[in-house]
Amino acid sequence: MSLSLSEKCFSEFVNLIYQLTGITIGSNRISLVEGRLRRRVLSLHYQSYEEYLEYVCTHKNEQVEFINLMTTNETYFFRTPRVWDYIEKIFLPQWILQHPDKKLTAWSAAASSGEEAHSLGVICQSFRDQNQKFNYQILGTDISTEMIELCQKGEYSGRSIEAFKKTRPEQFLKYMKSISNAQFQAHSDIRSRLKFQTHNLFSPLSSNEVFDLILIRNVLIYFKTSDQEKVLEVIQPKLAHDGLLVIGESESLSYIKSSFKSIEPLLYCHKQAEEMGSKAG
Ligand SMILES: C[S@@+](CC[C@H](N)C(=O)[O-])C[C@H]1O[C@@H](n2cnc3c(N)ncnc32)[C@H](O)[C@@H]1O
Repeated sequence: MSLSLSEKCFSEFVNLIYQLTGITIGSNRISLVEGRLRRRVLSLHYQSYEEYLEYVCTHKNEQVEFINLMTTNETYFFRTPRVWDYIEKIFLPQWILQHPDKKLTAWSAAASSGEEAHSLGVICQSFRDQNQKFNYQILGTDISTEMIELCQKGEYSGRSIEAFKKTRPEQFLKYMKSISNAQFQAHSDIRSRLKFQTHNLFSPLSSNEVFDLILIRNVLIYFKTSDQEKVLEVIQPKLAHDGLLVIGESESLSYIKSSFKSIEPLLYCHKQAEEMGSKAG
């Protein structure tokens, strides 16, 4: 059946995805929206995108599917190696000196299919193997229910693990086990310290937990500046006073209002923590 998305219907889908997720879609992305929704419209036996629009606007359950279809979930293990080297070689060794008896808590916000949370799990487990007193717990969240199911399954293959195998072959062998058909899963000691749940970055997180490390990478780019500021207001009270905030390689907080201060490109701390550190030093 030939389906085509009108400009008017496209802009209604764009408004809806914005209301549901904060994601802004450019006015030139009509074919992207058309392509992402086509199969769903056909599988529900609708004759037009307009009929589907009405359905999705009036059915909350369908909005979950709509969000799953409209989010961009690109990710892979150890994306942006510089950040992982910093966490492994600088952040964790300093953190354990200051918190010898505490369990490290980390939040991978906008975790997609979980590669980021699992990469952190590998680094933390490797650190734990060298420092018996070190322990950790990692929360991964995403707005997409489909992604959270993949996080919980935790099975990875192909491009997702390519860079991991090449750049960290020893850790790959030690911490990933082959399950079937080139599919790998992290060892159970890592998996037992990972938890995943759905969450919209514009809402407060349900738990009272405060995190020593928050990764919010490659998601702010989908939001307009004023919405990036709103998300950072949600994040701010969730980061421990001496915690580390990590953003994505094509993001910067330089031009937006926030209470975070850059330590190095992509790495931030609370402004107050930085001031206290420089007074002490
Ligand atoms: C490109 S992926 C980033 C994955 C990973 N952080 C990385 O850097 O590789 C962006 C993720 O943000 C999620 N996302 C988009 N809007 C969101 C929102 N309002 N709340 C939570 N997650 C959101 C999408 O579902 C998607 O999985």
